[in-house]
Amino acid sequence: MLSPSATTVRVFFHVLFATVWVGGQLTLAGIVPAVRRSSPSATKVIAQAFSRVAWPAFGLTLVTGMWNLMAVDITTANDAYQGTVLFHLAVAIASGVFAVVHSLGKSKAAIAIGGALGALTAILALFLGVLLRSGTA
Ligand code: HEM
Repeated sequence: MLSPSATTVRVFFHVLFATVWVGGQLTLAGIVPAVRRSSPSATKVIAQAFSRVAWPAFGLTLVTGMWNLMAVDITTANDAYQGTVLFHLAVAIASGVFAVVHSLGKSKAAIAIGGALGALTAILALFLGVLLRSGTA
């Protein structure tokens, strides 16, 4: 069996928290319509409970992302890698901003657009992260 290294531990935690943030949103999107049909008042309780798990996971994704940035010396990386890191960072932050719009939005449009763009940017951040690992700095 392969032995884990410090890099394995660092990337493991980054991906673990990212999976809660991204996978949690996708899972919730699948569950909420059924909950709304059977027990409409329960959706608010579920959303609040999800927030208590998702936001700490998002915060820890940012912290472990900074840990990644310190470990991967991007100042010496090639232009393509640097550009992908910046894009990865920008869509990760956008996913948090859209999630805030979704949870604080008062209109149906703000809630729907915030939720949809929040999930899309989170999935894009996930894709760009995997792209980073499969590329060369
Ligand atoms: C929604 C938020 C985020 C998601 C879903 C996400 C996801 C990922 C994934 C899946 C990987 C690749 C792991 C692998 O395939 O081995 C990765 C790598 C990386 N992420 Fe993120 N990430 C997020 C936020 C951030 C932030 C905020 C930063 C910077 C502050 C960051 C910096 C990095 C770096 C530098 C790598 C490459 C690490 C390496 O090659 O050793 N990420 N990310």
